[in-house]
Amino acid sequence: MITDDLFGYDASLPPVPELGADTLLMRQFIDDSLALQIIESVKHIHAHAPFRHMTTVTGGRLSASMTSCGQWGWLSDAHGYRYSEYDPLTNKPWPSMPALWRDLAAKAASQAGFEGFVPQTCLINCYKTGSKLSLHQDKDEHHLGAPVVGFSLGIPAIFCWGGLSRQDQTLQFPLFHGDALVFGGADRLRYHGILPIKRHHHALLKSCRLSLTFRQIF
Ligand code: SIN
Ligand code: FE2
Repeated sequence: MITDDLFGYDASLPPVPELGADTLLMRQFIDDSLALQIIESVKHIHAHAPFRHMTTVTGGRLSASMTSCGQWGWLSDAHGYRYSEYDPLTNKPWPSMPALWRDLAAKAASQAGFEGFVPQTCLINCYKTGSKLSLHQDKDEHHLGAPVVGFSLGIPAIFCWGGLSRQDQTLQFPLFHGDALVFGGADRLRYHGILPIKRHHHALLKSCRLSLTFRQIF
């Protein structure tokens, strides 16, 4: 059982076992010099495509604020979920994906056994204390052969990792600043989510957690 004690993160911790044959968690994949560059790019993206709280089809408000970069951006509203080439807030294309991000995502995918990953979108989630992401599948992409690559920055989160059915038992484990999580293949449609974020402080991002999730859509 993983408890909050693990928030006193010890770099020698082994990767969480048994996430799946096609899933890889890499601790400290992003070092602080890369993290700083990524955070600068997030500020630039936010200036052109601001973080916003989207709604669900039933009118609920997502507690994490989100924006995107790359050719496509993920949207959720009264019409449902979809990818759009335009940001409805600005009526402009999404900011381009920094080359560094693309390269890091491809490197993470390759280390997990997925060669030739070329992300077409990066969804950037900003979590504050209390923000969460309910259990869901990432299934809005047409190209399910490509993995999802996620980077975590800032304060920690507890990730829930389920099975292919919503009812399957979930494993809960922390994601820390710098971690990369790649899931594809047989694990591509596993249910997952983020438990309500606890109050923490991180030197680079204060009380915030950012997740960057890269996807190939077509
Ligand atoms: C997601 O499931 O799309 C994002 C997960 C995360 O915030 O790490
Ligand atoms: Fe997801």
